[in-house]
Amino acid sequence: MELKLILLLDLIYIYIDISKTESNNSVSTTTTETPIQNPYEPKDRIVNPHNFSYLLNPGYTVCNTSSSSSSSSVYILVYVHSGPTNYQRRIVIRETWATQTLFPELRLVFMIGKTLDKTIMKAIEYENEIYQDIVQEDFIDAYKNLTYKGIMALKWVSIYCSQAKYILKVDDDIVTNTFTLTKHLKFLDKLDPNRQQTLLCLVWHAMIVMRDSKSKWYLSKEEFPLEKFPPYCSGSAYIFTGDMAAKMYNASLYVPFFWVDDYYITGAVASAANVTYTQFGSLYTISEQVAHTRFLSSKSFYTIMFGHFPGSMNHMREIWRRILIREKFKYPTIVKSHSFSWDETIHPQSNNLL
Ligand SMILES: *[C@@H]1O[C@H](CO)[C@@H](O)[C@H](O)[C@H]1NC(C)=O
Ligand SMILES: *[C@@H]1O[C@H](CO)[C@@H](O)[C@H](O)[C@H]1NC(C)=O
Ligand SMILES: *[C@@H]1O[C@H](CO)[C@@H](O)[C@H](O)[C@H]1NC(C)=O
Ligand SMILES: *[C@@H]1O[C@H](CO)[C@@H](O)[C@H](O)[C@H]1NC(C)=O
Ligand SMILES: *[C@@H]1O[C@H](CO)[C@@H](O)[C@H](O)[C@H]1NC(C)=O
Ligand SMILES: *[C@@H]1O[C@H](CO)[C@@H](O)[C@H](O)[C@H]1NC(C)=O
Repeated sequence: MELKLILLLDLIYIYIDISKTESNNSVSTTTTETPIQNPYEPKDRIVNPHNFSYLLNPGYTVCNTSSSSSSSSVYILVYVHSGPTNYQRRIVIRETWATQTLFPELRLVFMIGKTLDKTIMKAIEYENEIYQDIVQEDFIDAYKNLTYKGIMALKWVSIYCSQAKYILKVDDDIVTNTFTLTKHLKFLDKLDPNRQQTLLCLVWHAMIVMRDSKSKWYLSKEEFPLEKFPPYCSGSAYIFTGDMAAKMYNASLYVPFFWVDDYYITGAVASAANVTYTQFGSLYTISEQVAHTRFLSSKSFYTIMFGHFPGSMNHMREIWRRILIREKFKYPTIVKSHSFSWDETIHPQSNNLL
């Protein structure tokens, strides 16, 4: 009974899996219809030097495979945009979906800026002594400095983990179904084993630029003169092939700084680096409200990759616990070897969902 169900789900999975390549890049195609020039096209000289220094840097230890007992190569490097005070979110991510004991081909690193609070700085330093997975540069960690964080990550990856086959960027309130993600990427590998120059994400075409000055996303015409954005990705989770890190870092030096990091990194810089966008479509992010039901329904369980959990961190743990319970049927050996370390009594009321 269980077996039949899983086979059926596999078919659904593969059916949804076939993602299509969208377009090569935005520079020479439809966006030229408007006479207004996009100010965030690459210049012929360096206009955006990334001149910050590392305060913390675990360096090669993150991705070197020689040191670890398993000689597996790095299949996915995960880098997480994290805030200085989000210590608990980092703990949850380390203990759940990015745990290396369960996924030996995965590496994890957090990207953080600095804060003027010395106590927090000390705590981050201490945290890094324990986990050796925090990269910190000396710019102030702030909303309008997220673009610096994105560039910092591209730079770091291109130096210290360029061998990774895929790079996954997430925010620290995302839960990834690592099983689905890995399966999806290996499926894409079968179609093209040497995939390069690729950005896999939820692509937004012609996103309207917000002109309402009361909005969090408001942009003046001076900041962004076009009425629609050229193609770019939903920023909470996207994946690119390892070769793109260096190419995008280099391109960022030539693209004028713009604080909207999602557009800057996955739009302006990625297209300057001649990336090919590949649409995730239905495999993509879902909001917290529907995350619980969608992650857990048997119809969509194997097709959902990312859930957004800005609220309680217990929700992140709870979803992961349920993902593991589901996966136990498919991967009995690996899941069995992974210990459950959280309090199962946190959500007694939701036990009847299964
Ligand atoms: C993408 O690039 C390929 C090869 O350069 C070209 O043949 C194709 O027409 C391009 N597709 C689009 C949508 O621009
Ligand atoms: C970069 O920073 C260093 C000090 O950290 C400084 O000496 C140098 O002038 C800076 N370069 C640029 C181009 O801003
Ligand atoms: C990791 O690998 C790099 C490049 O192969 C090497 O230079 C470095 O010494 C290694 N570091 C560690 C800690 O093993
Ligand atoms: C961004 O970082 C720079 C360098 O640390 C700092 O001067 C600037 O104030 C920061 N921006 C914000 C909005 O905090
Ligand atoms: C770096 O980017 C510039 C501007 O996009 C480009 O002209 C140059 O060829 C790139 N260099 C490398 C090594 O990719
Ligand atoms: C991107 O493609 C354009 C047009 O083919 C080329 O001029 C440019 O050098 C390429 N840039 C990079 C970074 O590869």
